[in-house]
Amino acid sequence: MKFKPQKAVLKNGREVLLRHVEVSDAQRVIDFVHGFVYDSEYVPLSEGEFNPTIAEEEQILSNYVERTNSLFLVAEIDGKLVANINVDGNQRKILRHTAVFGMGMHKEWQSCGLGTAILSAAIDWGRKNPELEILFLQVYADNEAGIALYQKMGFVEHGRIPNFFKQNGRYHDEISMHLSVK
Ligand SMILES: CC(C)(COP(=O)(O)OP(=O)(O)OC[C@H]1O[C@@H](n2cnc3c(N)ncnc32)[C@H](O)[C@@H]1OP(=O)(O)O)[C@@H](O)C(=O)NCCC(=O)NCCS
Repeated sequence: MKFKPQKAVLKNGREVLLRHVEVSDAQRVIDFVHGFVYDSEYVPLSEGEFNPTIAEEEQILSNYVERTNSLFLVAEIDGKLVANINVDGNQRKILRHTAVFGMGMHKEWQSCGLGTAILSAAIDWGRKNPELEILFLQVYADNEAGIALYQKMGFVEHGRIPNFFKQNGRYHDEISMHLSVK
């Protein structure tokens, strides 16, 4: 289902454009992810693990464009990508009403309301999507901002796996959360 571009105003007064990614954004998305992924404490990717070619990234983005139960939103401020959320609708028939999502943003934009803006837009889209019924996620148990955001949006915890993430010699528990968008 298509996403209609929309604007939101952050706590610091800056205007952000929320829009669906396009295949032609592939290089910008790669650069954007490189700009935050390795210094985000709570993203389970090690240095050097995110290395798609442009052709591979174009294929990934075109899947989001084509799959009616999936979404890849980007947030732009002054024409620069600053945050994204990818909602991966399951492609199996029995699970097509479910989607798992992940999100990230550049550090300097954290705690300004950007997470709230982009996640609200994705949830609204999920509620209007005739296929989707359940959104779910996995989060580091010590990611206070992430968990606060998800709880604020109505997500409820349904499970925890101890020592799920093993990062730089340190273990972190995992929390699973879900939201009904039926
Ligand atoms: C987690 C993340 C998505 C949250 O987005 P954000 O834009 O920083 O969050 P918001 O500013 O919209 O704040 C949402 C809520 O989180 C809480 N919060 C925000 N910053 C916080 C902080 N530094 N510490 C604790 N709680 C915080 C507040 O309750 C806030 O609600 P309020 O604005 O109504 O008070 C973002 O910080 C991020 O991408 N972090 C790095 C990568 C990551 O953790 N991704 C998620 C993986 S599951």
